[in-house]
Amino acid sequence: MSLMNTQDSFGSVTRTLHWLLAVLVIGMLTIGLLLDDIGSPLVYQLHKLTGLVVLTVAIISIIWNMCNIRPGYPASVPRWQQIIAKSVQHLMLLGALIMPLSGWAFATAAGKPPAIGSLTLAMPFIGPNPTIIHWGVTIHGFVANILIGLIAIHTLAALTHHFVLKDNIFKRMVKN
Ligand code: HEM
Repeated sequence: MSLMNTQDSFGSVTRTLHWLLAVLVIGMLTIGLLLDDIGSPLVYQLHKLTGLVVLTVAIISIIWNMCNIRPGYPASVPRWQQIIAKSVQHLMLLGALIMPLSGWAFATAAGKPPAIGSLTLAMPFIGPNPTIIHWGVTIHGFVANILIGLIAIHTLAALTHHFVLKDNIFKRMVKN
Protein backbone atom coordinates (compact mmCIF):
# COMPACT_ATOMS: atom_id res chain seq x y z
CA MET A 1 0.00 0.00 0.00
CA SER A 2 1.51 3.31 -1.08
CA LEU A 3 0.73 6.74 0.40
CA MET A 4 1.79 8.52 -2.80
CA ASN A 5 0.35 8.05 -6.30
CA THR A 6 2.36 5.84 -8.65
CA GLN A 7 2.52 5.66 -12.48
CA ASP A 8 -0.24 2.99 -12.34
CA SER A 9 -2.43 3.81 -9.36
CA PHE A 10 -3.69 6.41 -6.88
CA GLY A 11 -2.06 6.28 -3.41
CA SER A 12 -4.05 5.88 -0.20
CA VAL A 13 -4.01 9.63 0.61
CA THR A 14 -5.52 10.61 -2.79
CA ARG A 15 -8.10 7.82 -2.48
CA THR A 16 -9.10 8.85 1.07
CA LEU A 17 -9.36 12.54 0.08
CA HIS A 18 -11.31 11.63 -3.07
CA TRP A 19 -13.98 9.54 -1.32
CA LEU A 20 -14.23 11.99 1.59
CA LEU A 21 -14.81 14.87 -0.85
CA ALA A 22 -17.24 12.78 -2.94
CA VAL A 23 -19.42 11.91 0.10
CA LEU A 24 -19.28 15.49 1.43
CA VAL A 25 -20.07 17.17 -1.91
CA ILE A 26 -22.87 14.76 -2.92
CA GLY A 27 -24.32 14.98 0.62
CA MET A 28 -24.12 18.79 0.63
CA LEU A 29 -25.78 19.10 -2.80
CA THR A 30 -28.60 16.78 -1.68
CA ILE A 31 -29.18 18.58 1.64
CA GLY A 32 -28.73 21.96 -0.11
CA LEU A 33 -31.58 21.20 -2.54
CA LEU A 34 -33.82 20.25 0.41
CA LEU A 35 -32.77 23.07 2.80
CA ASP A 36 -35.79 25.32 2.27
CA ASP A 37 -38.22 22.39 2.53
CA ILE A 38 -36.60 21.16 5.76
CA GLY A 39 -36.55 24.73 7.12
CA SER A 40 -34.67 23.73 10.30
CA PRO A 41 -32.20 26.31 11.71
CA LEU A 42 -30.01 23.42 12.94
CA VAL A 43 -29.76 21.91 9.44
CA TYR A 44 -28.90 25.36 7.95
CA GLN A 45 -26.16 25.71 10.55
CA LEU A 46 -24.79 22.20 9.88
CA HIS A 47 -24.83 22.95 6.11
CA LYS A 48 -22.70 26.09 6.66
CA LEU A 49 -20.24 24.35 9.00
CA THR A 50 -19.90 21.33 6.68
CA GLY A 51 -19.25 23.80 3.85
CA LEU A 52 -16.14 24.96 5.71
CA VAL A 53 -15.04 21.30 5.96
CA VAL A 54 -15.58 20.89 2.17
CA LEU A 55 -13.46 24.01 1.56
CA THR A 56 -10.67 22.60 3.75
CA VAL A 57 -10.73 19.14 2.10
CA ALA A 58 -10.81 20.69 -1.40
CA ILE A 59 -7.77 22.91 -0.64
CA ILE A 60 -5.85 19.94 0.85
CA SER A 61 -6.76 17.80 -2.24
CA ILE A 62 -5.49 20.48 -4.64
CA ILE A 63 -2.22 20.90 -2.73
CA TRP A 64 -1.81 17.11 -2.47
CA ASN A 65 -2.38 16.70 -6.24
CA MET A 66 0.29 19.35 -6.91
CA CYS A 67 2.80 17.31 -4.83
CA ASN A 68 2.01 14.04 -6.65
CA ILE A 69 2.35 12.43 -10.03
CA ARG A 70 -0.87 11.39 -11.76
CA PRO A 71 -1.31 7.77 -12.88
CA GLY A 72 -1.40 7.53 -16.70
CA TYR A 73 -4.34 6.07 -18.61
CA PRO A 74 -4.27 2.69 -20.38
CA ALA A 75 -3.65 2.99 -24.16
CA SER A 76 -7.29 1.88 -24.69
CA VAL A 77 -8.52 5.31 -23.50
CA PRO A 78 -8.53 7.77 -26.46
CA ARG A 79 -6.67 11.06 -26.00
CA TRP A 80 -9.87 13.17 -26.24
CA GLN A 81 -11.46 11.14 -23.43
CA GLN A 82 -8.39 11.64 -21.25
CA ILE A 83 -8.61 15.42 -21.82
CA ILE A 84 -12.35 15.50 -20.99
CA ALA A 85 -11.84 13.29 -17.89
CA LYS A 86 -9.10 15.56 -16.52
CA SER A 87 -11.04 18.75 -17.37
CA VAL A 88 -14.14 17.43 -15.56
CA GLN A 89 -12.02 16.53 -12.50
CA HIS A 90 -10.41 19.99 -12.42
CA LEU A 91 -13.80 21.69 -12.80
CA MET A 92 -15.23 19.57 -9.96
CA LEU A 93 -12.39 20.66 -7.67
CA LEU A 94 -13.01 24.28 -8.72
CA GLY A 95 -16.71 23.76 -7.92
CA ALA A 96 -15.79 22.33 -4.51
CA LEU A 97 -13.97 25.64 -3.84
CA ILE A 98 -16.56 28.04 -5.32
CA MET A 99 -19.55 26.45 -3.55
CA PRO A 100 -18.32 26.95 0.03
CA LEU A 101 -16.66 30.31 -0.75
CA SER A 102 -19.83 31.79 -2.31
CA GLY A 103 -22.02 30.35 0.49
CA TRP A 104 -19.69 31.61 3.23
CA ALA A 105 -19.57 35.07 1.59
CA PHE A 106 -23.34 35.56 1.27
CA ALA A 107 -24.11 34.04 4.69
CA THR A 108 -21.60 36.46 6.27
CA ALA A 109 -22.92 39.42 4.24
CA ALA A 110 -26.44 38.54 5.42
CA GLY A 111 -25.28 38.54 9.06
CA LYS A 112 -25.77 34.75 9.37
CA PRO A 113 -22.24 33.29 9.27
CA PRO A 114 -21.44 29.69 10.30
CA ALA A 115 -21.39 29.43 14.11
CA ILE A 116 -20.65 26.91 16.83
CA GLY A 117 -22.55 28.17 19.87
CA SER A 118 -21.38 31.72 20.49
CA LEU A 119 -18.29 31.28 18.26
CA THR A 120 -19.08 32.85 14.86
CA LEU A 121 -16.90 32.08 11.84
CA ALA A 122 -17.53 35.12 9.63
CA MET A 123 -15.66 35.36 6.31
CA PRO A 124 -12.80 37.86 6.74
CA PHE A 125 -13.23 41.34 5.18
CA ILE A 126 -16.99 40.81 4.52
CA GLY A 127 -19.58 43.06 6.14
CA PRO A 128 -23.33 43.52 5.57
CA ASN A 129 -23.64 43.95 1.79
CA PRO A 130 -26.72 43.36 -0.45
CA THR A 131 -24.57 43.05 -3.63
CA ILE A 132 -22.52 40.20 -2.11
CA ILE A 133 -25.75 38.52 -0.98
CA HIS A 134 -27.21 38.79 -4.51
CA TRP A 135 -24.13 37.51 -6.34
CA GLY A 136 -23.28 34.91 -3.67
CA VAL A 137 -26.76 33.36 -3.87
CA THR A 138 -26.72 33.46 -7.72
CA ILE A 139 -23.27 31.85 -8.01
CA HIS A 140 -24.07 29.25 -5.30
CA GLY A 141 -27.19 28.11 -7.18
CA PHE A 142 -25.65 28.23 -10.67
CA VAL A 143 -22.46 26.34 -9.73
CA ALA A 144 -24.52 23.74 -7.80
CA ASN A 145 -26.32 22.83 -11.04
CA ILE A 146 -23.08 22.70 -13.04
CA LEU A 147 -21.51 20.51 -10.34
CA ILE A 148 -24.45 18.09 -10.39
CA GLY A 149 -23.97 17.71 -14.19
CA LEU A 150 -20.21 17.19 -13.85
CA ILE A 151 -20.65 14.59 -11.07
CA ALA A 152 -23.20 12.73 -13.21
CA ILE A 153 -20.79 12.62 -16.20
CA HIS A 154 -17.83 11.65 -13.95
CA THR A 155 -19.75 8.89 -12.10
CA LEU A 156 -21.26 7.46 -15.29
CA ALA A 157 -17.80 7.36 -16.93
CA ALA A 158 -16.25 5.66 -13.86
CA LEU A 159 -19.01 3.02 -13.74
CA THR A 160 -18.79 2.44 -17.52
CA HIS A 161 -15.05 1.78 -17.18
CA HIS A 162 -15.71 -0.72 -14.39
CA PHE A 163 -18.78 -2.59 -15.60
CA VAL A 164 -18.63 -2.26 -19.42
CA LEU A 165 -15.00 -1.71 -20.45
CA LYS A 166 -13.70 -3.70 -17.46
CA ASP A 167 -10.37 -1.84 -17.25
CA ASN A 168 -8.61 -0.74 -14.02
CA ILE A 169 -9.66 2.97 -14.04
CA PHE A 170 -12.24 2.54 -11.25
CA LYS A 171 -10.30 -0.12 -9.30
CA ARG A 172 -7.25 2.11 -8.91
CA MET A 173 -9.37 4.70 -7.10
CA VAL A 174 -10.44 1.95 -4.65
CA LYS A 175 -7.24 0.02 -3.94
CA ASN A 176 -3.62 -0.20 -5.08
C1 HEM B 1 -19.91 8.08 -6.63
C2 HEM B 1 -19.31 9.06 -7.25
C3 HEM B 1 -17.92 9.01 -7.78
C4 HEM B 1 -17.22 7.99 -8.39
C5 HEM B 1 -17.73 6.59 -8.71
C6 HEM B 1 -15.89 8.50 -8.71
C7 HEM B 1 -14.88 7.78 -9.32
C8 HEM B 1 -13.63 8.26 -9.66
C9 HEM B 1 -12.59 7.54 -10.35
C10 HEM B 1 -12.71 6.10 -10.80
C11 HEM B 1 -11.52 8.37 -10.53
C12 HEM B 1 -10.22 8.07 -11.27
C13 HEM B 1 -10.43 8.56 -12.69
C14 HEM B 1 -9.18 8.73 -13.48
O1 HEM B 1 -8.19 8.04 -13.28
O2 HEM B 1 -9.21 9.61 -14.37
C15 HEM B 1 -11.88 9.64 -9.95
C16 HEM B 1 -11.05 10.74 -9.91
C17 HEM B 1 -11.39 11.97 -9.43
N1 HEM B 1 -12.64 12.31 -8.89
FE1 HEM B 1 -14.20 11.06 -8.58
N2 HEM B 1 -15.83 9.80 -8.31
C18 HEM B 1 -17.02 10.15 -7.73
C19 HEM B 1 -17.39 11.38 -7.22
C20 HEM B 1 -16.57 12.49 -7.23
C21 HEM B 1 -16.94 13.80 -6.71
C22 HEM B 1 -18.30 14.13 -6.09
C23 HEM B 1 -15.86 14.62 -6.89
C24 HEM B 1 -15.69 16.07 -6.55
C25 HEM B 1 -16.63 16.91 -6.33
C26 HEM B 1 -14.82 13.84 -7.53
C27 HEM B 1 -13.59 14.34 -7.91
C28 HEM B 1 -12.58 13.63 -8.51
C29 HEM B 1 -11.27 14.16 -8.81
C30 HEM B 1 -10.81 15.60 -8.55
C31 HEM B 1 -10.52 13.12 -9.37
C32 HEM B 1 -9.04 13.16 -9.78
C33 HEM B 1 -8.22 12.53 -8.67
C34 HEM B 1 -8.24 13.38 -7.42
O3 HEM B 1 -7.73 14.51 -7.46
O4 HEM B 1 -8.79 12.93 -6.39
N3 HEM B 1 -15.28 12.56 -7.72
N4 HEM B 1 -13.16 9.56 -9.44
